[in-house]
Amino acid sequence: MCGIFGYRGKDLQLVYLLEGLKKLEYRGYDSCGVIAYNLGKFLCKKNSGKIEELKESLTDKLNNKYSSALLHTRWATHGKPIKLNAHPHKSSKKNIHVVHNGIIENYLELKKKLKKKGYKFKSDTDSEITANLIASFYKGSIEEAVFSAVKKLKGAFALGVLSEFEPDKIIAVRHKSPLLIGAAAEGFFLASDLPAIVSLAKEAVYLKEKQIAVLSAEKIKLYDFNGKRAKVNKEKINIKTVSTNKKGFKHFMLKEIYQQPKVLRDTLDIYTKNNQINFGQLKLTKKYLKGVKNIFITACGTAFHAAHVTKYFLERHTNIKVEIDTSSEFRYRDFNVNKGDLFIAISQSGETADTLAALKKAKKRKAKILSICNVIGSSLARESDSFIYTPAGPEIGVASTKAYTTQLMCLYLFCLHLATIKNTISKTNKNNILKELFKIPLYQKKILRQNKKIAMIAKKFSKAGCFLFLGRGINFPSALEGALKLKEISYIPAEGYPAGEMKHGPIALIDEYRAVVCIAPMDDLHEKMVSNLQEIKARRGKILAIINPADAEIPSFSNQIIYIPKLKFQEISPLLVVVALQLFAYSVAKNLGAEIDQPRNLAKSVTVE
Ligand code: M6R
Repeated sequence: MCGIFGYRGKDLQLVYLLEGLKKLEYRGYDSCGVIAYNLGKFLCKKNSGKIEELKESLTDKLNNKYSSALLHTRWATHGKPIKLNAHPHKSSKKNIHVVHNGIIENYLELKKKLKKKGYKFKSDTDSEITANLIASFYKGSIEEAVFSAVKKLKGAFALGVLSEFEPDKIIAVRHKSPLLIGAAAEGFFLASDLPAIVSLAKEAVYLKEKQIAVLSAEKIKLYDFNGKRAKVNKEKINIKTVSTNKKGFKHFMLKEIYQQPKVLRDTLDIYTKNNQINFGQLKLTKKYLKGVKNIFITACGTAFHAAHVTKYFLERHTNIKVEIDTSSEFRYRDFNVNKGDLFIAISQSGETADTLAALKKAKKRKAKILSICNVIGSSLARESDSFIYTPAGPEIGVASTKAYTTQLMCLYLFCLHLATIKNTISKTNKNNILKELFKIPLYQKKILRQNKKIAMIAKKFSKAGCFLFLGRGINFPSALEGALKLKEISYIPAEGYPAGEMKHGPIALIDEYRAVVCIAPMDDLHEKMVSNLQEIKARRGKILAIINPADAEIPSFSNQIIYIPKLKFQEISPLLVVVALQLFAYSVAKNLGAEIDQPRNLAKSVTVE
């Protein structure tokens, strides 16, 4: 998604500023641009394509120094990914430059009005209207013009504004799209995302909803949308610098798949003490958890699959009613969340617009909010009553891998914690599941060691025109996740289905050209999966089975097999199944020469609806 990076302070080289923008690359983008100022001179350049290309087009200016700057990566929503639609956008009168993240919902209506006033538009974007709108209010003070303009805008917008008449000020606006300021010795850095500034600043000012910041060389002034001054709270940044090193791996995705045993070990270390679950920092009291009757869980994409696994696990071990939905549905549903219910939001980035909106809705209804998130200073973490940090470390590959298994591990531990408090699980059962959770990193390593074999299997399946992923029970979400991983990085149509539903439609797809991935560990639904496999075999479908080594039945029906270690508690097998599915998806995509870390059209952090 779009990324904003800005600067106001002592003179800094352009090359340094572009490095800042590069830290936002992982979010996914298609074009980029910069406006920078120093000593009476402006530099304005935009390009479709990557920051590296923008940098090449500015070779002779890279060592030039600038004291005010706005930079942007654009992920197209309105209008094609071409230079004309890239940011910054400049007003057609009064020389105001704007970078924008979000979506302006009433842009057509505003555009019409501004055209009548003589303003011209060059792009197809919704963003360009913000520049002309601010210009239409400009009477000599850029902040006053911004105060007036924001009141007319509907939708989500984080803005960076620079006026050619007052280039010693950078204006920042936050409304439903995150924005923060890093305070450093040389000046202030503006960013839509914490990773962009962690290596640059030690303190951050997180803009609140409907706040406007005016950055001068020495000062930050904060205002609300009515122009009333607000207090500036600087907070220490305590996350580590984002590593952009692939450490010998061909792609970040592969590196992140391989990091899973380590980050799951870290997760267990953080949330256990003397081999017992320990959520000491959790702000949800035992008294509250004992009484909780309803749980709602929301998330998007892969994180939603973690919600799905959690529902199965919680229903087995507690007497709590669990409802799950994707955040984009939850936010518009009349779901029956009430005071005292627990609302869990899961997100890698903590900035996903739909998840934040669903959370806010639940908050309004006085539910207790628990977030499971990989970014400590994120909007999600800050909006929640309580927060479980997933120590996956920064995830750069757009396809989520280690963040997912870390979410799962945190959620398994949290569910066991809850079941213990509610007395719905025996001590022995809990301890045995916990013991097996401790073995997961080791078992994952066993799967990773099969990488070469999985790559060979992937070669045989790479030409399949479409995939069906089937699973049952707690591995139905694994089927959804396997299909999502494959389609997002290989672009092969893939569908995840509960195997029991196959006869109700998807079976029509099966013939000798279709591939079916069957997830069938030896659990209490194994026999049902065996029947499904026979039905697929009878229709000559190509079967890839994910099974346990002890399975005596399935190998005879399968074209290819990936073995995963057999667990005593198969309910935690999603932590293993998914590693095999990730490696499979990765190898298929690699065979097809796809852009694995930044697949087309996708963004790492989906900050618009
Ligand atoms: O940052 P979040 O976890 O909230 O993101 C949710 C989804 O956008 C994300 O999981 C997406 O589906 C990934 N590309 C999946 O690999």
